Amino acid sequence: MPGTCVIGLQWGDEAKGKLVDLLTAEHEIVVRYLGGANAGHTVVTGGEQFKLHHIPSGILNPGVDNVIGPGVVVNPAVILQEIDGLEQRAISVDRLKISDRVHLVFPWHITEDHLTNARLVGGENIGTTLRGIGPCYRDKVGRTTAIRLGDLFRSDFAERVERIVEIKRQQLSAFDPDIAGQLDAPAIIDEYRGYARRLEPFACDTTPWLLDAVEADRAILFEGAQGSLLDIDHGTFPFVTSTNSSGVGVAAGAGVPFKAVGRMIGVAKAYTTRVGGGPFPTELEDAMGDRIRELGNEYGTTTGRPRRCGWFDAVAVRYAARLSGVDEIALMMLDVVSRLPEVRVCTKYRIGERETGDFPSHVDDLRQVEPVWESFAGWETDITGARVWDDLPLAAQRYIQRIAELVGRPVTRVSVGPDRVQTIDVPLERTALEAGG
Ligand code: GDP
Ligand code: IMO
Ligand code: MG
Repeated sequence: MPGTCVIGLQWGDEAKGKLVDLLTAEHEIVVRYLGGANAGHTVVTGGEQFKLHHIPSGILNPGVDNVIGPGVVVNPAVILQEIDGLEQRAISVDRLKISDRVHLVFPWHITEDHLTNARLVGGENIGTTLRGIGPCYRDKVGRTTAIRLGDLFRSDFAERVERIVEIKRQQLSAFDPDIAGQLDAPAIIDEYRGYARRLEPFACDTTPWLLDAVEADRAILFEGAQGSLLDIDHGTFPFVTSTNSSGVGVAAGAGVPFKAVGRMIGVAKAYTTRVGGGPFPTELEDAMGDRIRELGNEYGTTTGRPRRCGWFDAVAVRYAARLSGVDEIALMMLDVVSRLPEVRVCTKYRIGERETGDFPSHVDDLRQVEPVWESFAGWETDITGARVWDDLPLAAQRYIQRIAELVGRPVTRVSVGPDRVQTIDVPLERTALEAGG
């Protein structure tokens, strides 16, 4: 059975964690395959909230194997905190495997992220999560100053760190000689040797293990991180993350053939959020934006930053769904827009006299677009208790079906609150495309 993949269709935080946790019940293996501590995935069950950064959201389901694939960058201190936090809450991590190919985040990466993020890109700050993600991937691609998990267990580890610290000192002193001088190789070596002892039971070459699983037809769930519009090649460059975070990145990050993914589920909020810099055509910089932020509790899972909020952008989501090869959509946070007096969707972009359904390749062009709006009278109903399609107000059903029509993919699941149980499976005859809108 080819695997399932969950991909964010906006700028991250679409509630992928919630959906992955739900879908884990139908799978045997959950794989995280990109990003690192920049991700913050939330799972809520039985009134308990779990926030995960590296560890797959499948970990709360006992009996499932959880894999961190080669495309992830791991900060050992952060992942060990996650492991400890789970164990303290009696969640077993015995079935966690971490690829020995993952690249490790070192203190210099965090320093570099702080130094470079403060440099403006065309007058605007990228607004990274400051978790050292970009610098770590930069070293991975550059190769000469990279360290992978497998290197921690080799006899030349100390020598490798000493050599790299020397290079990093030289590079960083161009920014700030004081900061460069603070890099202390012996202390870093000691610290990371401590991490090595604790991470060793989890480290292995996950690639042949996953290939065996693929060939044995085990049910695999791939957990995307970030969102399609943050993709390094296909997103709103340079206001993106450092990986192919759309659907095109799954095989490379996990180390499986493309054919291993059969079903692509795109996750989108019923509105839009973005953290950090970059253009956002449907952004609401007014009281309505504030209202959505408060209703949706839109503050970063990783950094606590207030998220920028705006209306659903069907142009952007349609682009993301096509790029990521999405078969169906899970529409999240419908309860949030259900409280508003009016709800809007951007159906097209206007550029001068012209209207287009295409998503521009250059951020300067994206900054120029004017959304073409479709407005819906709000249904102003508390739907957090809805559990089946017929519990939803007619206006909410129409909103869902209109989104499906505009994006060109059926909405098969709707989320009406953070908890596992606050989820509605849309009956097949109601998925808009089959219903003809
Ligand atoms: P992820 O990064 O895509 O996994 O998403 P985050 O966990 O960063 O952000 C989603 C937030 O929305 C979390 O706090 C979830 O608990 C919460 N959430 C998930 N689904 C819903 C929903 O349908 N309604 C509401 N109100 N909150 C939700
Ligand atoms: P999850 O998996 C939302 C954003 C940052 C910044 C840009 C680059 O929880 O959806 P980085 O630290 O990756 O170099 O930052 O990408 N970003 C995210 N935004 N959710 C995420 O992950 C994100 N991961 C990165 O805010 O704009
Ligand atoms: Mg998140």
